[in-house]
Amino acid sequence: MNVLANLKWIEAKSYEEMCKNAADIFKEQLKKDHATVFGMATGGTPEGFYKELVTAYKAGEISFAHAKSFNLDEYIGINPSNEASYHYYMDHNLFNHIDMNRENIHVPAGDTANLEKAAKEYDAEIEAAGNIDIQLLGIGVNGHIGFNEPGTPFTLGTNVVELTQSTREANKVYFDSIDDVPTHAITMGINTIMNSKKVVLLISGESKQEAFNRLRSGIITEDFPASALHNHPDVTVIYTGVK
Ligand code: GLP
Repeated sequence: MNVLANLKWIEAKSYEEMCKNAADIFKEQLKKDHATVFGMATGGTPEGFYKELVTAYKAGEISFAHAKSFNLDEYIGINPSNEASYHYYMDHNLFNHIDMNRENIHVPAGDTANLEKAAKEYDAEIEAAGNIDIQLLGIGVNGHIGFNEPGTPFTLGTNVVELTQSTREANKVYFDSIDDVPTHAITMGINTIMNSKKVVLLISGESKQEAFNRLRSGIITEDFPASALHNHPDVTVIYTGVK
């Protein structure tokens, strides 16, 4: 473990170890505060992390009965019942298996008529919950966090974004073809993420090497969204498969 700027870096020996380390941090947080407000992420990277949380819940080690959760993002124009939606992902990987109350689970609505209104309300709900205590993040190959693509002002709250071609390409594995990958998404903004009290960022696999290098460089630029995290006081990066 070493320290670069504000970020705390933990190298894990394997994907499993990365997931376990991250889950340990989340479990500790939940044991300390049963009413923790979680920020959750989707993607291939955190799948093993969610398995760890489900296992701990089933073993009676933790309970989510008093916790709340806000997800980072959702595609626009696909229904929660669509298997590629982040609603579906979260139910399938976590919420169907734990005791969090349905009314305490929040995923941005990607299939609503008034998206601007939904985005504003999402930030208001997070604020009303007292802000996120611990936020999980993955990273896109282009450095996006949530769906905040390069060039996004760091000042934005939850907003509607156009996805870059590289993001659509990276995510096409979850769809039948590239044409089925949505062009837009709703995402917590960088500012929403920066208001979280603690952030845990997972980076796994060779495809993230360049993003990892850019984050390590410590250069803060809106061209590389994850670099905003250098301005956050409590970020732990757990990485594996990159060097
Ligand atoms: C997706 C999500 C992000 C995620 C990232 C990496 O597009 N919007 O929240 O962190 O891209 O995904 P993966 O873990 O599958 O590489």
